[in-house]
Amino acid sequence: MSRGLKRRVEKIFAKGFDMFIGSGLSQEMNSVDPAEAGEDFYYSSEALSRAVRSAAAEGCVLLENDGTLPLEKTRPVAVLGRCQYDWFFVGYGSGGDVHAPYRINLIDGMKNAGAMFYAPLADEYLRLVSSDEFKAEHGWWGHWPFSHPELDIDEGLLQRAARECDTAVVVIGRAAGEDRDNRPLPGSWYLTNEEKRLLDRATESFRRVAVILNIGSLMDLSWIGEYGGKLSAVLIAWLGGQESGSAVCDVLYGAVSPSGRLPATAAKLCDYPGGEFGRSKRAEYSEGIFMGYRYFDRFAPEKALYPFLHGLSYTEFTFVPGCVSLDEKGLKARVRIKNVGSRAGKTAVPLFVYPPEGKLEKPLRVLVSFDKTDVLGPGAEAEIALSCDKKSLASFDEERHSFIMEAGEYRVFADETYLGSVFLSREEIVETCEPIVIPSHTLRERILSHLPEPMPGVMARINFSDVLSGRRVAEEFVSSLSNEELSDLTRGHGMMNSELGPAGNAGVFGGVTAALRERGIPAISCCDGPAGLRMQRFCALIPCGTALAASMNTRLIGELHALLGLEMKHFGVDVRLAPGMNLTRHPLCGRNFEYFSEDPVLSGLTAAACVNGIQSVGKAACPKHFACNNQEFKRNISDSAVSERALRELYLRNFEICVKASRPLTIMTSYNKVNGVWAHYNYDLVETVLRREWGFDGLVMTDWWMQSSRSPEFRALRDNAYRVRAGVDVLMPGNKSHVSRRYKKERSIPRALKKRGGLTRAELEQAALHVIKLAVRLKNGE
Ligand code: BGC
Repeated sequence: MSRGLKRRVEKIFAKGFDMFIGSGLSQEMNSVDPAEAGEDFYYSSEALSRAVRSAAAEGCVLLENDGTLPLEKTRPVAVLGRCQYDWFFVGYGSGGDVHAPYRINLIDGMKNAGAMFYAPLADEYLRLVSSDEFKAEHGWWGHWPFSHPELDIDEGLLQRAARECDTAVVVIGRAAGEDRDNRPLPGSWYLTNEEKRLLDRATESFRRVAVILNIGSLMDLSWIGEYGGKLSAVLIAWLGGQESGSAVCDVLYGAVSPSGRLPATAAKLCDYPGGEFGRSKRAEYSEGIFMGYRYFDRFAPEKALYPFLHGLSYTEFTFVPGCVSLDEKGLKARVRIKNVGSRAGKTAVPLFVYPPEGKLEKPLRVLVSFDKTDVLGPGAEAEIALSCDKKSLASFDEERHSFIMEAGEYRVFADETYLGSVFLSREEIVETCEPIVIPSHTLRERILSHLPEPMPGVMARINFSDVLSGRRVAEEFVSSLSNEELSDLTRGHGMMNSELGPAGNAGVFGGVTAALRERGIPAISCCDGPAGLRMQRFCALIPCGTALAASMNTRLIGELHALLGLEMKHFGVDVRLAPGMNLTRHPLCGRNFEYFSEDPVLSGLTAAACVNGIQSVGKAACPKHFACNNQEFKRNISDSAVSERALRELYLRNFEICVKASRPLTIMTSYNKVNGVWAHYNYDLVETVLRREWGFDGLVMTDWWMQSSRSPEFRALRDNAYRVRAGVDVLMPGNKSHVSRRYKKERSIPRALKKRGGLTRAELEQAALHVIKLAVRLKNGE
């Protein structure tokens, strides 16, 4: 690449980085050919593109179909709706903002597939979306668009299209982003009048109308029913990343039979439980454990417009029960799947358990496991074995602080097929936990009783290389560091796009000072995020979290993330700040598109697949945001008020599943408070639950910057000292915090070390040890 081109690309990317704070979409990016920019800027991998396309196609959820889909490539369709060009490939904020090397919209996808469409109509849309008057706006940080205003198409043109084509494909798009929730308004949750008019005109003029929903999370779908049978097909294509258009066409034209399932229940806004959403900084989780399908199944089944895991196929499968058994380890079930339809396809196989009625009020059924078949041709069969631990079958009893399996019959279903029952003759306590929603003085005692022991003092000057070579253990190295060095290890370098990391990183920790680097400690770089690497490079843009979860294909998600891990290697990124895995408690949460599901098992296992993939190539994943970051409204100061039962069965459970199934090397706390305590100061979340109960042995970092606060239990501790006592190892990205503009001036750790009843050196050593152990793992993975 010529020096001139290199400079130009660098300049464009630098702009792109500023647009983190802006919209993240740079028109100028399109003027550079990634291939020409070369491998310093672009990691080109066919395997990665293929995996992105498969994941996007497998995530598509077919809500309705009267046989109109699949379409035939040789019969032209009229494509309506501006999103055929202004396709939403991803959401906004850190979970978007990836500089994709290319983006295939619906029309490009159709062209590539060789599918016919009515060109004069598409040309008119292109003319309009390219005009200054109607050009799509992408807003700026926290002011992202929810949609683009729909365009008016000349009636004569529409009628000419209707004479040429009997089918219209109407695209409706929605976007969302970080720091802003969706709104109960037209253009966000609801259709706009213009969109309704477009659907009216389409249904009046065409014999068949297929709707494609280009959305990151659920929107109002009650209009589908209102159109009666006039909508022949409705397909959710989600935000499918750079291969979106090709992936949707794979489904539209039948190369792939749809196999995605809805990862959350679709209902009218007024029918969701939990009261008013996102209006107050105190978020009362008043629905308790009855969130999502747990609520609808039990109290309002008729209100679910499309139930959890709804999704149609072009073919048909029968599920034949195999054996079901319960032993010490948990539940096992087998099911035989047969494709009895006439087309090849895959099917997801969700395993539900209906627990017995008992003392504890329970959901009617809970998802305990799932899998997916490979492609089965017509007549082909497959046997699927599924299992889960006993905790997945148990309910949390707040009085006894225990997960309990009550006596009685546990009915087991694969999808809607009854497989058999297992019986428990008497109640069983599966696990007893420490109470975590408790008064402050009890917490104080518990913290003091678990303070770590100091490490054996080592006087010799040890280097990080001694740990790498195995001559010294990490503990010895850590104990040889000064208080100041230890303290520096517990914070990032101070800014986003640190010069110590690759261009466009979100932050760096580890060797953040010259003194630490002299001891050989490397700088550990972090990059967002769930949709792909967000840096000053061309990086693969993958389907949004909701789409990945909808695919229910953990093998594919794992493969995709292993390939993303290779991309991290290529660009020198150590930690990927993903997956985002908060439960989609309410459909209006602005970051739902990054997240997976309303269900902890679907969320937890999908997240584990991402983590396993990334870490299989020696890189680190960072599941986030731990915990209860379920609204964006006032996310830095909101307080999620949640019962211990709902925490244990839902909002922590998905993280638990992920931690146990994939051992993530790092984890990120959330901005919000949980029951009155900020997650980054929350000892019980981090030390009691994450580390002691689940055995997490990795590193815990804050979300980007944190709030200033004094510990109510230990008045000598505030800010970073309070955080370290809570077990949160690293403040990210560092210096410039809500605590202090400059970390160096922020003296909470040295002060707390000096005070009686303050921080102990041993606690600081523990935090530093987690950094060093991570650095060793990353070095060994290189
Ligand atoms: C987001 C995180 C993200 C971080 C770094 C925060 O605003 O909440 O999800 O990883 O920024 O970009």
